[in-house]
Amino acid sequence: MIEAARRRFARLATRLVVARPGLWRVVRRPLTRVFDAIAPSWDDLRVTPQHLAPLDAALAALPGAPARALDLGTGTGGGARLIAARFPEASVVGADFSAAMIREARTRATGDRERYEVADATALPYEDGAFDLVAQLNMIPVFDEVARVTAPGGHVAMAFSRGPQTPIWVPLERIQAELERRGFTHVANFSAGAGLALLARRDPPA
Ligand SMILES: C[S@@+](CC[C@H](N)C(=O)[O-])C[C@H]1O[C@@H](n2cnc3c(N)ncnc32)[C@H](O)[C@@H]1O
Repeated sequence: MIEAARRRFARLATRLVVARPGLWRVVRRPLTRVFDAIAPSWDDLRVTPQHLAPLDAALAALPGAPARALDLGTGTGGGARLIAARFPEASVVGADFSAAMIREARTRATGDRERYEVADATALPYEDGAFDLVAQLNMIPVFDEVARVTAPGGHVAMAFSRGPQTPIWVPLERIQAELERRGFTHVANFSAGAGLALLARRDPPA
């Protein structure tokens, strides 16, 4: 019952924030509380064997290996660990505004190339162009900050483990349009397991 209400709230918050980014101020606090509360049981409740498949499909299509990667809304760190495993030279930051999620992620870190930090995706504490890859898995897209911290020539991967059935879901055409407005091109879509993903490149200056 509580779980169903949380899913409904996540869906509603996603719709509101994508339609009106200014509403983030309203949903931020209750959403953080929801994710703090479910952090200890997140992996048991939500993480299936196919959870990472769409993100992995997008990562497999990257033309080169990123040196600096960010997994935004990392939760318990599944996406960050996937990136670290796929790119053995990469240093990977997993960021999440839920301190409880970050505590869980730190207990699962697989090496010192991974770092987990409490940070709000709408006001990231990273320099412009700080990352060659920014990933978001099952996370409300935050286009302006993602564009700012992605290095020219770098990539953004956005994935949803259960496609349109994911409580936090934004149609890929909408994501593509938002990214193209911010100078991303070379957009490709992927389907893996029940999930969908999109990969796009931030064009270097002409
Ligand atoms: C649905 S969970 C997905 C977690 C993980 N990526 C996964 O798929 O297992 C969404 C995560 O994004 C985080 N989150 C949502 N909005 C955020 C924001 N603006 N800044 C940072 N983290 C955020 C939540 O705390 C939560 O851990």
